[in-house]
Amino acid sequence: MRNDIEKILITEAEIQEKIKQLGEQISKDYKEKKPVLICILKGGIVFLSDLMMNISTHIELDFMSLSSYGDSTKSSGVVKIKKDIDVDISNRDVIIIEDIVDTGLTLKYIDDYFMQHKPASIKICALLDKPKAHLIDIKIDYVGFEVGNEFVVGYGLDYAQKYRNLPYIGILKKEIYS
Ligand code: IMP
Ligand code: MG
Repeated sequence: MRNDIEKILITEAEIQEKIKQLGEQISKDYKEKKPVLICILKGGIVFLSDLMMNISTHIELDFMSLSSYGDSTKSSGVVKIKKDIDVDISNRDVIIIEDIVDTGLTLKYIDDYFMQHKPASIKICALLDKPKAHLIDIKIDYVGFEVGNEFVVGYGLDYAQKYRNLPYIGILKKEIYS
């Protein structure tokens, strides 16, 4: 599997160091609060599990699953809920945990959807952001790393459901897509 990687963009150590900083920041911002961390499956799961152990306040966890991608590398722009949240988020502080923001369409959809439940606050935490790919204006409150428009895999992110179990972020060799 690791032979399929052309280049490592962000190493395991760089990810872990950044997550420590994000965890400290969130712990400060939510001191004395108990935010609900809502992880967007499946890509956000690896990020969530490392991040939450670097948060020192009480938290609650929930998960949401959406489809927008299929097995291609381009956003369809069409978002469908496959698994909804179980926690009642009205009057709660919500932090959305995402692997990567690409067009921003998925997050826009989730944000609008959660707002209907009247939470006390919503913030977005994404490990990766592709600022040049945004199709809408979206504010990401906590960002790990900015990347270019290339398709990346690893640390939760997949290509055709594979490569999620790499401990780093990398780019695949061209022949893997063909
Ligand atoms: P958006 O709606 O275009 O922002 O797409 C967001 C979702 O697309 C992310 O949560 C990922 O699941 C997926 N995605 C976007 N870019 C990549 C990538 O480079 N590698 C793997 N998945 C990606
Ligand atoms: Mg995702």
